[in-house]
Amino acid sequence: MSEVKIVALPGDGIGPEVTQVALDVLETVLEQHDLKLNVTKLPFGGTCYEEFGEPVTDEILQTCKETKVVLLGAVGGPQWDDLSANKRPEAALLKLRSELGVFANLRPIFVHSALAGASTLKEEVIEGTDILIVRELTGGVYFGKPRFTSEENGDPFSVDTMKYSRSEVQRVTRIAFETARLRDKRVCSVDKMNVLESSRMWRKSVLEVAEEYPDVELSHMLVDNAAMQLIRNPKQFDVIVTGNLFGDILSDEASMLTGSIGMLPSASLGGENGLYEPVHGSAPDIAGKGIANPLAAVASAALLCRYSLDLEPAAKKIESAILQLLEEGYRPADIYTEEPGTKLANTGEISNQLLTSLNEMADAS
Ligand code: IPM
Ligand code: MN
Repeated sequence: MSEVKIVALPGDGIGPEVTQVALDVLETVLEQHDLKLNVTKLPFGGTCYEEFGEPVTDEILQTCKETKVVLLGAVGGPQWDDLSANKRPEAALLKLRSELGVFANLRPIFVHSALAGASTLKEEVIEGTDILIVRELTGGVYFGKPRFTSEENGDPFSVDTMKYSRSEVQRVTRIAFETARLRDKRVCSVDKMNVLESSRMWRKSVLEVAEEYPDVELSHMLVDNAAMQLIRNPKQFDVIVTGNLFGDILSDEASMLTGSIGMLPSASLGGENGLYEPVHGSAPDIAGKGIANPLAAVASAALLCRYSLDLEPAAKKIESAILQLLEEGYRPADIYTEEPGTKLANTGEISNQLLTSLNEMADAS
């Protein structure tokens, strides 16, 4: 049996609980394809800080780079909020993304018809929504220099820098156009070019790339309008490509179309590397209670099969197991609405259900 080597960084809060479910699902599916999953589990974020005094060590980063495929849970928690910027759990995540060079963050927003009633928005508005947000992940104001805090006439101030180069914009734009070709062939680029210099560079660079893709329709939208349009009429979007900060904000907003941020997976790609993580955070308030929704982590494992292993059938199997679970009425607490025919399910029940249906799929084929 050949091996699939990955690094798992379960992280903090509910990270370990949801990652374990994703790993069990992944192992089961890979076995069905005669592949053996070989997982190196390493500490990351707050848990790593407790052990090593740093949210990530050079050795851990090195192992991630060598292994190329990383499944991450979540980082952060109130006990680490007062640490200096470079010791915070979030700093480890930014370092990892940057060191792996995963500049394109894919966040699919897919509204399962079984869950159309779980959203706070009207069913007829969200039903059929299928958006892919492509967020630039290793540039923009998250990484721009200078970045400092100082003082002017006794008044302290801080500076962050939003910088985008043409090449940074164009490589992520190409990913957006390539993925659009496999979907509805429409890209909407989101910026703030009426105010920001870096957004004017963004738009100009996107327009240049668009010439290489005459078969894909390109539109532009200002970010404030995009925030409104996502709620007003989400079905108008196919692929959205945008910068790091705008993508962070818009993807949290868009997650509510699916009922809960607990449903949103992500894949961060660049070169041969892939980092897979749920979009949600570490949810310290429910950590350890066994009630976390593992579906975003599981769906991230499906993306891992699709993009890093080139194993589309395995990705599809995981996604249909999720669909089946929802259609059978199982609902994790964050999307449970007391609808008739639905039942509240904890993390373990969801895991068992997914593994059972994966095994049934294997027996049937
Ligand atoms: C995300 C998160 C991170 C981000 C945080 C934890 C640094 O919110 O992945 O969306 O801002 O990118
Ligand atoms: Mn975020």
